Amino acid sequence: MSASLATVSYIGAIILFILSLGGLSNPESSRRGNLYGMIGMAIAVLATVFGPRVSMAGVPWIIAAMVVGGSVGLYAARKVQMTQMPELVALMHSLVGLAACLVGYANYIDPMAALNLSSAEKAIHEIEIYLGILIGAVTFAGSLIAFGKLSGKIGGKPLLLPGRHFLNLLGLLIVIAFGWQFLHAESVSAGMLGLTVMTVIALLFGIHMVMAIGGADMPVVVSMLNSYSGWAAAATGFMLNNDLLIVVGALVGSSGAILSYIMCRAMNRNFFSVIAGGFGGGAPAKKSGGEAQPAGEVVAISAIETAELLREAKNVIIVPGYGMAVAQAQHAVNEITQLLREKGVNVRFGIHPVAGRMPGHMNVLLAEAKVPYDIVMEMDEINAEFPDTDVSIVIGANDIVNPAAQEDPDSPIAGMPVLEVWKAKTSIMMKRSMATGYAGVENPLFYKENNRMLFGDAKKMLEEVLVALKA
Ligand code: TAP
Repeated sequence: MSASLATVSYIGAIILFILSLGGLSNPESSRRGNLYGMIGMAIAVLATVFGPRVSMAGVPWIIAAMVVGGSVGLYAARKVQMTQMPELVALMHSLVGLAACLVGYANYIDPMAALNLSSAEKAIHEIEIYLGILIGAVTFAGSLIAFGKLSGKIGGKPLLLPGRHFLNLLGLLIVIAFGWQFLHAESVSAGMLGLTVMTVIALLFGIHMVMAIGGADMPVVVSMLNSYSGWAAAATGFMLNNDLLIVVGALVGSSGAILSYIMCRAMNRNFFSVIAGGFGGGAPAKKSGGEAQPAGEVVAISAIETAELLREAKNVIIVPGYGMAVAQAQHAVNEITQLLREKGVNVRFGIHPVAGRMPGHMNVLLAEAKVPYDIVMEMDEINAEFPDTDVSIVIGANDIVNPAAQEDPDSPIAGMPVLEVWKAKTSIMMKRSMATGYAGVENPLFYKENNRMLFGDAKKMLEEVLVALKA
């Protein structure tokens, strides 16, 4: 393939990636967005493998590596449960980081890479290598720890070393000092010292950074590592002089950063305090006097009584959460929705930005069950509607409907925006027990006068409600 054809292919791929991101912003166009992304990636891979910078002798090696990598990826993607998706994503990010490190080292050792470069160009090339490996190593180690935490292999409690901010600062100073040594090294073997010391510190920093972050902040961390993996890919693009990789890396880097910001806002967390760590260790963080203990009585309700309430309702809002995903109850939810809508009930869904365990988790499940998009509303659109609602049904959600976020300034989730389900005439909370949710915070909603608890597995309970509704 000629150089100009490769360039044209790269531009085509870049346009497709941008269209793909645009498509993913809306459930209705997301399939098309995915398709654009896949076509763009196929073009990018073909233009690179058969492009002017790869000799034909290397092609069989690349194809063999792609077959192995592709098979592992295909197997992992087919096997993964929807609820394990964030873990898989974290693991994938670690590979991007590792690739950036390996490319960096290979580039530094390769005697051809810096051939014919002026001293200024050589310095820029070495800065690219140093930064690329730095970002790559932080991403690699941080993502592995995030994978461990999300899969429960490492505890969710934040690890708070004494003087941790000082340790991080010290690490940064050493990295700068060895960067100076690296840039002024006389030979490749002398430069290796600085590079190796920096890599070790970057790996330790990645581990330390994510270990210090508590379970409740993990979604933000995964999205932040997504952003890092983009910047690591962009750095790799600079090292390899590959414009496509630079643009794609920047797209991933900036969209990950925007997503982190949106998620921080949804959890009412300051981005820098998330990175500083120490929040959401599983057990509620007690402040002076501790969070208020909920008072009142818990009133249980049966599936038949739930069906009766629904039959009499005019307006119903359904709030799904992580438990709906665990129970795989989305199809039963859709059947109940259809039945109620046929009876003239106004049914809508309220989706919290961090409901479930990954961005868009609930939207994907509801789309899979064929719930119409136009009745699925975001939190900001639906919150004002609860006072005019007869029944709000919470299906396996907990933190995202916790009134303590508004009512108890001492609560660890104080200030987090929540869906105000308790403002409906009756709220029905569907879960298996009185257990807390992801953030480990007690929920006073269980004890509110107008709240009813429908205890049991969400899918089983909804199927019982459906039978009762049909009867
Ligand atoms: P949670 O607060 O985790 O509550 C889910 C509830 O579902 C649990 O209290 C559990 O109670 C119930 N449940 C579990 N399995 C069930 C089943 N089979 N049937 C019925 N109920 C079941 O979930 P949420 O309200 O969706 O809030 C999300 C939380 O996860 C937030 O704290 C958020 O910050 C965090 N988080 C979000 C993300 C993203 S990006 N979405 C990623 C990671 C973490 P029982 O055990 O009593 O049944």
